[in-house]
Amino acid sequence: MKIRPLSMAIGAEITDVDLAKPLSDAQWSEIYAAWLKHIVLVFPGQKLSPEQQIAFAGRFGPLDDHADDPTYRLPDYPQIYMIGNYMINGKMSATKDTGRKWHSDHSYTTRPTLISMLYCRQIPPVGGTTAFSNMQMAYDMLSDKLKSFLDGLEAVHDLSHYITPSLTWKPKVKDPTKLRDKNPPVIQPVVRVHPETGRKALYISEAQTSRFVGLTPEEGRGLLDLLFKHMATPEFTYRHNYQVDDLVFWDNRSCQHIALADYNHDSSNPRLMYRLTVLGEPSGRLLDAEAA
Ligand SMILES: [Fe+2]
Repeated sequence: MKIRPLSMAIGAEITDVDLAKPLSDAQWSEIYAAWLKHIVLVFPGQKLSPEQQIAFAGRFGPLDDHADDPTYRLPDYPQIYMIGNYMINGKMSATKDTGRKWHSDHSYTTRPTLISMLYCRQIPPVGGTTAFSNMQMAYDMLSDKLKSFLDGLEAVHDLSHYITPSLTWKPKVKDPTKLRDKNPPVIQPVVRVHPETGRKALYISEAQTSRFVGLTPEEGRGLLDLLFKHMATPEFTYRHNYQVDDLVFWDNRSCQHIALADYNHDSSNPRLMYRLTVLGEPSGRLLDAEAA
């Protein structure tokens, strides 16, 4: 097995290993250690059946079966969720614009995702990239004064915040109230301590963090803007240009990511990813429970 860093900050490519075959304990330990160290791993050229994808992802923990959103599951494989600009039931898939702002998966729930794993099935001739940013590095680079202020702070994560337009993406959501009712806001720590490495990481996101708990909106706005800009510092990032058969996965406790709108979205130019989600440990609490 060869491990090659993809940037100074985050990401490594692993070659000379076939994930379709059962891994030895030594191989598994090496992959696991590389994942903790590099946060994002890329395995190019993997030929995996759905069963083999599920078996590999399942070694990290229990998988989401997407029972709350069954439309986009791969038939017969509820653990595999299809993200892309493809037609389904005569309509463009609503997954087309998944992840268009910086975020950590499911931080707006009380059980955020541990690992998100994408298996690239189709990719446009240009674009369709994902950028990742190392949130441990982003935390480490702050001043000690700001670190100590953020260490005890909490923030509200709200999925309905995601649908405010950005410069590069204009969301089309018919009913924001329904979205908020289905996904009530949660409070998360601003700095998350990694349970396996002890490293601290910033845990807010442009997509979902609407405000800090205990600060006025005016006080918080400037700080959020400063941190969002800081978290996307190019030196903290790696941007992955996919090839078909790339298997890419990351630790949502240590990084944030964005699916860039850097390609033509029409269905003649397909981008299709099979996503598997390893469920994480509970984190945070419901905002409404707090208010009550
Ligand atoms: Fe995501």
